[in-house]
Amino acid sequence: MTTNPKPANSRLDPEPIPRRDMLGLMSLGAAAAAFFLAILGMGRLPKAAVLSSPSKRFSVVIPETVLPGQAFSPPGRSVAVFRDSEGVWAVSTVCTHLGCIVKANPDGFECPCHGSRFSLDGSVTKGPAPRALSWLKVEAAGGKLVIDQGVVAPSGTKVRL
Ligand code: FES
Repeated sequence: MTTNPKPANSRLDPEPIPRRDMLGLMSLGAAAAAFFLAILGMGRLPKAAVLSSPSKRFSVVIPETVLPGQAFSPPGRSVAVFRDSEGVWAVSTVCTHLGCIVKANPDGFECPCHGSRFSLDGSVTKGPAPRALSWLKVEAAGGKLVIDQGVVAPSGTKVRL
């Protein structure tokens, strides 16, 4: 008695893939898809949120229209620059309470955040600011004023031009 040999699978009737192999293939496909999506996601990550900041040291020209004793705030700087017959000085406009930018007015400075007030020389006239506004280092170099926002000068330091 002869047994019929198992017929060879044709291309139209392939041998079924074992279940274990099918699960392995599916997990490989899932891993490849996850890897691809991770690479795609990394490409969409936001760029570093570090912005270049302007130098703390900058030169300024006080316009002729600014009267003696009147504050001049250079655009983009948190500084008020003054001049009078004794010289030039700069006061930081960063509030000593929580760091808001104070607004200059004819009587001094007023903080829009919590209402602190400062006189023109930066001293506190109304809290909650705990201390006076800082005076900043000013240099006269070649007829130009150079202000260094990173260096605090003793209060009352004026520079002659
Ligand atoms: S930040 Fe200026 S009063 Fe609070």
